[in-house]
Amino acid sequence: MKCTKEYRLGFTEKAKSILKNLTLEEKVYLMSGRMSLAQEMENIKTDPDNLHYNYVPYPAGGIERVGVPPMLFCDGPRGVVCGNGKTTCFPVSMLRGASFDVLLEEKIGHAIGKEIKAFGGNLFGGVCINLPYNPGWGRSQETYGEESYHLGQMGAALVRGVQEEDIIACVKHYAFNQMENSRFKVSVECDKRTEREVYLPHFKECIDAGAASVMSSYNLYHGTHCGHHDYLLNEVLKKEWDFDGFVMSDFYWGVKDTVEAANGGQDMEMAHTVFFGDKLVQAVKDGKVSEEKIDESALRIIRTLLAFTSQQDTQCNSSVLASKEHIALALESARKGITLLKNEKQILPLDKKKVKKILVLGALGEAEPIGDHGSSWVRPPYVISPVQGLSMAAPDTEVIFDKGEDLDRAKALAKEADAVVFVVGYDYNDEGEFVSAEEAEGYTGSMGGDRKYSLGLHQNEIELIKSVGPVNDCSTAVLIGGNTIMITEWMDSVGAIIMAYYPGMEGGRALGEIIFGDISPSGKLPYVLPYQESDLPQVDWETTKQHYDYYHGYAKLEKEGVKPLLPYGFGLSYTTFEVSDATFKAEGNQVYASCKLKNTGNREGAEVVQMYVGFSKSSIDRPVKLLRGFTRVNLVPGEEMIVTLSCPTEKLCYYNEETNQMELEAMEYEVYIGTSSDNKDLIKGSVKL
Ligand code: BGC
Repeated sequence: MKCTKEYRLGFTEKAKSILKNLTLEEKVYLMSGRMSLAQEMENIKTDPDNLHYNYVPYPAGGIERVGVPPMLFCDGPRGVVCGNGKTTCFPVSMLRGASFDVLLEEKIGHAIGKEIKAFGGNLFGGVCINLPYNPGWGRSQETYGEESYHLGQMGAALVRGVQEEDIIACVKHYAFNQMENSRFKVSVECDKRTEREVYLPHFKECIDAGAASVMSSYNLYHGTHCGHHDYLLNEVLKKEWDFDGFVMSDFYWGVKDTVEAANGGQDMEMAHTVFFGDKLVQAVKDGKVSEEKIDESALRIIRTLLAFTSQQDTQCNSSVLASKEHIALALESARKGITLLKNEKQILPLDKKKVKKILVLGALGEAEPIGDHGSSWVRPPYVISPVQGLSMAAPDTEVIFDKGEDLDRAKALAKEADAVVFVVGYDYNDEGEFVSAEEAEGYTGSMGGDRKYSLGLHQNEIELIKSVGPVNDCSTAVLIGGNTIMITEWMDSVGAIIMAYYPGMEGGRALGEIIFGDISPSGKLPYVLPYQESDLPQVDWETTKQHYDYYHGYAKLEKEGVKPLLPYGFGLSYTTFEVSDATFKAEGNQVYASCKLKNTGNREGAEVVQMYVGFSKSSIDRPVKLLRGFTRVNLVPGEEMIVTLSCPTEKLCYYNEETNQMELEAMEYEVYIGTSSDNKDLIKGSVKL
């Protein structure tokens, strides 16, 4: 890897010698952005058809005289936000999480890195790894799931892919940023074990993978703004984790105070100079911020930029943008992440020859399923809708579309069709990034917010499915959304249910292929699906103070003995797999689980093999078990393979609040290997550490 920490540290001396020649004003100049909100609004007004938030890389710092290039920020995560109609729109991260495909995530990182180079950018601000405490978080779509270990693995893969292209990866939003409506005011509180075992390990994983930049979050943690947080930024990130890169604030409202932010470890105010600049120079002159502090920030910025730009491979030209290869990756990702939740009587896949007429119901059937209209809004050259995707997969089948507003009409159409597909769920109005009109000085592009009423479908969609589903024996519900969508109330009214998340520009095609059986589904839920919402932790989306308990998601349900409707890691296939011959061992500093995986069905398919570790012998309160390994395996009918998963023992540690350290308990650990987090899908063994 070209841009490893070691490589970057090799630039320390050069950065120091540049630093020596800079004035205080110049050093401070490196520490902030140059795109004001007013300027941005003005641009958008000039050409609303082409210009939008983040349409070009946003600059910060840069001093030509001494050869320090500016930082040039491009947003993500579902691709590169720059340009209009130019870049590849991948599925959202939640779908990519459902693919459990680390190698594919790395490839997506490479593609994103190349597209950033085509815009002349040098930083990707789209490695979002926040952990939704409650799945109603409006920006859940930007992260990979509910599980810290899995978030860390997927985020680290994106970091590697992007940075191997010599583009700085920025990991966000550090930390505890999983409430949208109240993100500028909420103070999150939790105990130390929750902080260290649940909310921080995935950030550490990305730092250990070499991430060279971190974006602090808007929210507060224990009463202090995360953009000013001495403990989070100076103590944990920079000292304990030995992070060598730089921190930037979240945009416009992430720094609130010059002195507190600079002393708290903030290196760069984005996207515009408000509290840094002259005010920071003055604070140094007044003795409120030491010049060493400024030197430290400037050194981090210079070193990182030199390292990433000194060796940058040929700048990519625009032919990489939404290139055939990148679009093929977007399709591969959608195929691998879309998750089959129910398939009673094997009604799927549909037989192209027998299904002459298919009815698509629900307004989302013709919509663009790419996600919210916030800062991660990628504008691809085209988007394939579910209706288009079905037509493409079965060109001889008549595809009829109806919004489903008139139930009698929908029923009559459903009676005449050979199959019915409901496309229901959310769009950018229902969930996503949220900035109120006052905050955004008139900008209204981003109005999703947290889920407003429940984690369920809209009432009219529920009525549609309940009354029309039973009319046709072959009815499937396709769910569009960024996180958990409740199905309990209406699941008996349809034969099949598919979670499509926001599958991106090629998502409609992948859906069509899965429904008509060109591809076997292989995605797995990256979150637990409960019978009822109240089984999950509850939050007040508008509050100024929110406590996070230690338990959430599948770990909470399992601890409380509450059976989920569908377990974490669950997803059906058109073929069948058998797991056998499991073995478990601890060797060196690793725990291993192996099994034989066989495709026992009659078609090719992929399975995600998962390893969990259990803590029932612990002397303290610990989860029943946690995911600690996974891999995807593709097998043709009859094929079998030995699959071995491993996990460093340090990932089994707990945080000892007395010694203030992560510690490994000497005891017997249960180890499980199988195809979901449900014990009935797992073979159990144990290891002694
Ligand atoms: C978002 C960040 C984003 C930044 C720049 C903020 O509003 O919270 O995720 O990277 O804008 O677009």
